[in-house]
Amino acid sequence: MAIGIFDSGLGGLTVLQACQARMPDVDFVYLGDNQNAPYGVRTSDDVYRLTTQAVEKFWDHGCDLVILACNTASAAALRRMQESWVPADKRVLGVFVPMIEALTERNWGDNSPPREVDVKQVALFATPATVASRAFQRELAFRAIGVDVETQACGGLVDAIEDGDMVLAEALVRSHVDALKRKMPNPQAAVLGCTHYPLLQDVFQNALGADVKVYSQATLVADSLADYINRHPEKVGSGCKSLFLTTGDPLKVSDRATQFLQSAVTFRAA
Ligand code: DGL
Repeated sequence: MAIGIFDSGLGGLTVLQACQARMPDVDFVYLGDNQNAPYGVRTSDDVYRLTTQAVEKFWDHGCDLVILACNTASAAALRRMQESWVPADKRVLGVFVPMIEALTERNWGDNSPPREVDVKQVALFATPATVASRAFQRELAFRAIGVDVETQACGGLVDAIEDGDMVLAEALVRSHVDALKRKMPNPQAAVLGCTHYPLLQDVFQNALGADVKVYSQATLVADSLADYINRHPEKVGSGCKSLFLTTGDPLKVSDRATQFLQSAVTFRAA
């Protein structure tokens, strides 16, 4: 029995790690669309086409439940997929909602009208495509009123992380935080809305200052998923072993992933 975890590249491994720690008895099939990464600079149509193509590979591996551990795919493609593409016996979930539920202190399935929440000034750091989709503001508006959101599209950051150039990545984080602070000098909370960014959480926190609460997704998504599969155990699917798949070069991707996770990982061709 396995659950699919999808990302455009390596960033979703942060979510996978948290899910494995939270649900040690569940097998996961991870698929990185490394050949087509980054998604963050693509149009919504393109992200939709690539994401649906990738998710079909999970059906072939017996995963009936797939997590889009990619904010860009969750923001730009998920709603359209759920409305008209996902077969009735399968389920595709995204990573946006658990984070917004944490920010607005709501529980899963709380469908009461939007209400005032403690946090009033929120900074969102994400890819250009996620920022352009405005999906974060839309999902937030279903749950909360009176929250100002200022966004910062972090151009170049995913490429630097995928290339393993952490010196450049850190410099980019500092300059993106500066740019955000020019628009919103005193955010109360900051959302790292890209699965690659938890790797630089300390750098974000330092640049933002200790009084800003930084929300990072991996553990929030793992908790939400554990809750979901408790209520829907049948959705764990018939796939039966953990696998790492990539549309890119398996040797290269395995090397980078091993560096990224700091433990050995072997990818095979999807
Ligand atoms: N890691 C992905 C996300 O969470 C996107 C990175 C990319 O491919 O641009 O948005």
